Amino acid sequence: MANPRRSSYSNNPSSERSSYSNNPSSENPLQTHFLSLSSLIYFLKRPHAFPFLLSVFILLTWVFLRLQHLQYFSFHQQDQYQENQKWRREDDGKANLVRFSSGFPSPISRDRRGWLLNPVTAANEAGISGGAITCASVHVGEIRPGGVRGNHRHHSCNETFIIWGAKTKFRLENNDIVGKGYAEVTISAKELAIAASPSGTAHALVNVDPVRTTFFLGCQDSILTYNSSTTDFNVWNDL
Ligand SMILES: *[C@@H]1O[C@H](CO)[C@@H](O)[C@H](O)[C@H]1NC(C)=O
Ligand SMILES: *[C@@H]1O[C@H](CO)[C@@H](O)[C@H](O)[C@H]1NC(C)=O
Repeated sequence: MANPRRSSYSNNPSSERSSYSNNPSSENPLQTHFLSLSSLIYFLKRPHAFPFLLSVFILLTWVFLRLQHLQYFSFHQQDQYQENQKWRREDDGKANLVRFSSGFPSPISRDRRGWLLNPVTAANEAGISGGAITCASVHVGEIRPGGVRGNHRHHSCNETFIIWGAKTKFRLENNDIVGKGYAEVTISAKELAIAASPSGTAHALVNVDPVRTTFFLGCQDSILTYNSSTTDFNVWNDL
């Protein structure tokens, strides 16, 4: 059984060649493409192409299943991520803290120069209550790795904190947390946190970063002398 198209090629090779040489520009990939396509079709029509077709089919099935698996996996991961975010926001709420990415863009970093904020309005806009409405007294400082600041309870000032620079634990007294009596969250070196500690609430900042330094600003709404009648010191002994 002769294939007419195929026989026309083999019967008249010289005319083929001459047509090529007459017009060199026609010696193009399209012609070769057509040739290889027709020989492929010829090959596929033959019984010994069956194992080849079968393996192509198996390969495609594998690719399809693989893609489906990946898709499922990424959806699952996304779910997990959203779930984690939700829990973290709840924990942050219990610690009266809101965190932002300190990189650009973020709500506190509107251009490439970096972040800039007013602690009082930023806390207000972030929905944090119980902090200082005015800064009568401001402390700015650092905490080296392993260092602890705070771990005290002021009785005559509300305080708003801005914390950044290193992986830092923030602990705030919260009697709604059964058993512990405090809420505790960790912010990363790439985040900035705004937190508030109302008057009569204990707070502590711990640098848990192996290398980086934590920086913080504390804004208090009254000028207080740190003595035993205004402040309870060393509230927690596990820090
Ligand atoms: C702290 O905040 C409370 C309520 O927000 C307010 O009544 C009080 O005057 C503030 N300042 C001090 C020093 O307690
Ligand atoms: C603590 O400081 C306050 C002023 O802020 C003062 O009135 C009080 O007497 C001091 N208490 C002690 C125990 O020194």
